[in-house]
Amino acid sequence: MLLRLINGRYVIGIVCLIPLLWLIYDTVFDALGADPIQALHQRLGDWSLRFLWLTLAVTPVQSVMKWPGMTPYRQLLGLYACFYASLHVITYLAIDHGFMWRLIGIDIIESPYIWLGLYAYSIVFLLAITSSKWAKKRLGKQWKKLHKLIYSAAIAVIIHYYWQLKGNLAEPMFYLIVIILLLSFRLAVRLKKHKIKFNKLKLTRKMPVIAEKNN
Ligand code: HEM
Repeated sequence: MLLRLINGRYVIGIVCLIPLLWLIYDTVFDALGADPIQALHQRLGDWSLRFLWLTLAVTPVQSVMKWPGMTPYRQLLGLYACFYASLHVITYLAIDHGFMWRLIGIDIIESPYIWLGLYAYSIVFLLAITSSKWAKKRLGKQWKKLHKLIYSAAIAVIIHYYWQLKGNLAEPMFYLIVIILLLSFRLAVRLKKHKIKFNKLKLTRKMPVIAEKNN
């Protein structure tokens, strides 16, 4: 039992709930500030973004540290990104707008930054429901293609964040720099793979010429 509790996935799974417990604490003790609904909504959006960034950081960290066992953590962090995004959306629909669909419709039409939020949320949700081993097996090659959409979701989230901002740009700037670094890493790995493939192709083309010369 104790060994199961010490398992990394359990520990991370519990740690990821701390932001939610902290939010509940601030809500109960009236510590959300002057506009509690806005604070709740923004903090849930912030945590969803942070978990999305952490999910994207797993593969680069895995390759730098040469620690291949991190894939289950990536799935867990991705599920938490979806969980906090769902709470962010529920707060918007239920607490911010009291499920007044006409008002929600008008707000969505008038606020293009919400379109990007909706796009990002659809992707994050789709990836969460197809993150199991079973779905991976069933989708085969399509699974990888589908899960690459996470990059476009991250770009949509950062634009969503900037677009609705009225004040301090320091925090989104930090997230922007982190995502640029993470995407650059992925691009560098891809270019390296292409280069190796290209060199191999060049070598196999040269081989018959070398063989002919030797004859
Ligand atoms: C994966 C999906 C999403 C992520 C990661 C996300 C993240 C964020 C972040 C980080 C902010 C800025 C919070 C701040 O200023 O500190 C934000 C604001 C906002 N988001 Fe999202 N969002 C997502 C989807 C959505 C969706 C689907 C909607 C609406 C249906 C939405 C509605 C809003 C609104 C209205 C704000 C402005 C909050 C305010 O200042 O009052 N978001 N979101």
